[in-house]
Amino acid sequence: MKLCVAFDVASFDDCINLAKKLKGLDIWVKIGLRSYLRDGVKLLEAIKKIDDFKIFLDLKLYDIPNTMADACFELAKLDIDMFNIHASAGKSAMCMIMDRLNTLNKRPLVFAVSALTSFDEEEFFSIYKQDIKHAVSNFSKLSYECGLDGMVCSVYESLLIKENTHVNFLTLTPGIRPFKEKQDDQKRIGDLNTAKENKSDFIVIGRPIYKAEEPRKICEDVLKHIK
Ligand code: C5P
Repeated sequence: MKLCVAFDVASFDDCINLAKKLKGLDIWVKIGLRSYLRDGVKLLEAIKKIDDFKIFLDLKLYDIPNTMADACFELAKLDIDMFNIHASAGKSAMCMIMDRLNTLNKRPLVFAVSALTSFDEEEFFSIYKQDIKHAVSNFSKLSYECGLDGMVCSVYESLLIKENTHVNFLTLTPGIRPFKEKQDDQKRIGDLNTAKENKSDFIVIGRPIYKAEEPRKICEDVLKHIK
């Protein structure tokens, strides 16, 4: 299991300071909407200069197939190791994206977002008119058939996804609160043991790390636990 740290902080300098604090640790860095919209490619380059961290660009793309395929082709030219799209964009979009990316010699991993970890059943139902488990198994089958590498889901759907697709189809689980921190806006949260039991391949942790007084210490404790 790998630890992915969300760099959802307030400025370019905050991102750089966090990267310096975490230098040398076996982590992935997740750059999401806040940091990427503000700082763009120069942030990715600056982080790679501090350490050879693997980078997950978390932009959760959603659009018509041709627009998504073109956008993903542009993303694949960046020095990143993983990015994601929404599975609800559908099979035509996901298959078109993978057809384009598979023409490259090397491409980043592509994950599909299933149900956001901030949804509980009630809110999810009000939008999708089905329960989370049904929707996630459907999304994961479609994503697997199109040749994506894995799904973004909560720890509670990780095993279900692997059972419905393949044990090597990867799962990446946000909503992790390692040491009983507050859940903030997340609804389907889990701790490190739950992530392990459910065979999560990547856990994502943001606020419990970047808001901590000693982010490096929390990372080290998490890494010790998931070894
Ligand atoms: O601060 P916290 O640990 O809740 O951060 C979780 C991170 O994972 C955020 O950057 C959020 O955008 C992202 N994420 C999520 N749920 C998803 C996909 C991504 O929380 N389904």
